[in-house]
Amino acid sequence: MLGLRHFRGSAIDLFQGDITEFVCDVMVNAANESLGGGGGVDGAIHRAGGPSILAACREIGGCPTGQAVITGAGSLPAQRVIHAVGPIWKSGKEGEAALLESAYRSSLQLAAQHGLKHIALPSISTGVYGYPIEKAAPLALQVVMGFLEESPPGLLRRITFVLFDRTQYQVFQKALFATFPEAAEERT
Ligand code: APR
Repeated sequence: MLGLRHFRGSAIDLFQGDITEFVCDVMVNAANESLGGGGGVDGAIHRAGGPSILAACREIGGCPTGQAVITGAGSLPAQRVIHAVGPIWKSGKEGEAALLESAYRSSLQLAAQHGLKHIALPSISTGVYGYPIEKAAPLALQVVMGFLEESPPGLLRRITFVLFDRTQYQVFQKALFATFPEAAEERT
């Protein structure tokens, strides 16, 4: 089944693959507070995008957990990169959910502020940072729903979650259909 929904003039969809190969206006990096690069998505984005991205990150100097900053995209198939810092999962009782929501919301807001219409997002915090994906996926889709409800229709035209493997894709697909139950043919 296709992972696609329409809601208030936006398409929300899923793609399985490497985010650094996904053509979009802006792609989101799962960064850390130092913005100094790392492994996972962060490593892939800097490897594929080239040194100009790290230079721009160094200029910015850092980003608190739950927030996001924007840079150029170097040689990536996007115009910009948003570096979002998700929480490290500890016990689940230390404000992790609110910080992850904030990281996603800040990313969507930044894309909209810069007039970027198609945003690609990874599953923030569910790798090295250990956030359980079964909790992160519904949270991410609910942030998207809330953002679209509060924004003028079509502010973002397409929101794509890019998942690295089949299992993660299926967890997000379940969350997508639970959050946006309408059939894809709904009138926009
Ligand atoms: N494309 C899409 N998704 C990817 C890719 C990729 N190229 N590489 C990894 N992922 C997935 C992982 O499977 C995971 O589900 O992205 C999700 C986030 O994993 P991480 O990249 O480890 O990010 P996170 O858990 O937020 O941890 C951030 O890791 O790499 C360091 O510098 C980074 O310190 C920061 C921390």
